[in-house]
Amino acid sequence: MINFELIDVDKMNAQGIAFRNSRNGDLYESNLLFLYGDETAERTLPLGKKEVALVKERREENKDFILSFDRLPYHLYFLSFDSEKPAAEVQESLRRNAMKLLKQFEADRVNEIAVCGAGTLPEEVAALLEGLSLADYSFDRYKSKDPYHLQRVAVDSTYFKAEEMEAMQRLWNRIYWCREWVNLPVQDLNAPAFADELASIAADLEGVTCTVMDKRQIESLRMGGLLAVNRGSVDEPRFVVLEYNGAKGSEKGVKRTNEAESPICLVGKGIMYDTGGLNIKPGDYMQEMKSDMAGAATMASVVFAAADNKLPVHVVALLPLTDSRPGFNAYAADDILTMYDGTTVEVVNTDAEGRLILADAIAYAVKNYNPRVIIDAATLTGAAVRAISTFGIAVMEQNGRRELEMLKLVGEQVYERLVEFPMWKEYDELIKSDYADLRNSGNTPQAGTITAGKFLAHFAKDVPYVHLDIAGVAYFTKAQHCWRPGASGYGVRLLYGYLQMQ
Ligand code: BES
Ligand code: ZN
Ligand code: ZN
Repeated sequence: MINFELIDVDKMNAQGIAFRNSRNGDLYESNLLFLYGDETAERTLPLGKKEVALVKERREENKDFILSFDRLPYHLYFLSFDSEKPAAEVQESLRRNAMKLLKQFEADRVNEIAVCGAGTLPEEVAALLEGLSLADYSFDRYKSKDPYHLQRVAVDSTYFKAEEMEAMQRLWNRIYWCREWVNLPVQDLNAPAFADELASIAADLEGVTCTVMDKRQIESLRMGGLLAVNRGSVDEPRFVVLEYNGAKGSEKGVKRTNEAESPICLVGKGIMYDTGGLNIKPGDYMQEMKSDMAGAATMASVVFAAADNKLPVHVVALLPLTDSRPGFNAYAADDILTMYDGTTVEVVNTDAEGRLILADAIAYAVKNYNPRVIIDAATLTGAAVRAISTFGIAVMEQNGRRELEMLKLVGEQVYERLVEFPMWKEYDELIKSDYADLRNSGNTPQAGTITAGKFLAHFAKDVPYVHLDIAGVAYFTKAQHCWRPGASGYGVRLLYGYLQMQ
């Protein structure tokens, strides 16, 4: 994990590597990354005359480029970007450039760097730092040799207050842990282990309560979906509820306000491993299914980040956890389940397991929390990946237009983008069963993402509901943008941003 700190940069020499610290007057030298957004600050460039000419020439051609100058034993990196594009696009290009920079740092054996700039806004610097944090993460736990990582980044303190820098870093650390959980194979993170991990984090975090329900409690709640999916597994299921209430009026003795009473409920799919069950996944399709709990990891990370940074919101994460396997008394196609809310479901395909555990969690939220809105995140359908590839989230809503529009807006800002799918009533027909209230998979291979969304929406009743299908983005097989192969943490910045908007 990169350690970010603030420094007071008073003056820099023309070499771009020596600073004076304006607080104590100290002179010191360091590797430097200089961000250059527009021409207005040309005179402050930490470069020699010929170098300035070179930069000018390059910028006339194309404003986006990286130059690196040896100032051995230090290095100076010069990142030029076009600040005139729309803000979200500029910020995303900075995140992606962070990956390129990191590769260069690694080649140059640079693991500490100072960051400053000219013609650059704080949100642009923040995007670059966020990109460094996202790009620097890799899943190293099982490697015998520690791979390269950037260790320290000292940031010009004119851009942020100490508290702002710390808040950003706390969010990025939660994303780090989200990715680590998703990357962990089921052998080392099954449902009971994940529940224990969440409980132990919550115990150390002010304002967060964690309730872990074990198999017997889940049985007495009659969560027919979660129990059915768990029947093929050696490991017990868990149902974890994380609650953080930072809303005004949540304090003891104060009259409770609406915000304090009706929480935002975040439901996350926690399939610790998806074999498909008796409808076992063929060939390569099973690979990477350790990531089928990314929704749960995302929602837990969002609640923890909200608590870390004391956001004034009331959020509850509801996380059904189990793996799905064909062992023991595994549930079978043709089984008819009775769900937590009494709805009966005909199992058509045991590989459509996510919606079964989510349905119980959504119904539990409706019955017990009086939610303002229910939002779920789930690696739910291969159809979502086929429809939009790895570039965004498929989103649907029922009575949740306002929330969806807010999420879309934040999504554009943080570049975790949403594509809306229709929820026309015609699709309801596709999930009707001849023998039960619903079937767990549509009666046609078409519109698989929508029929899954429709299935879940049934359990939200008339509570505003937004469904996020993150199957395409939770886990990248190949490196993409500011992510190395593996878990991305996609969705944490989106939902955290949505909570910040409340
Ligand atoms: N976890 C999978 C969906 C998935 C596929 C996520 C690829 C990430 C990448 C889900 O449980 C599943 O198996 N869905 C089936 C549903 C079908 C049986 C109705 C699918 O999409 O094929
Ligand atoms: Zn499945
Ligand atoms: Zn699944």
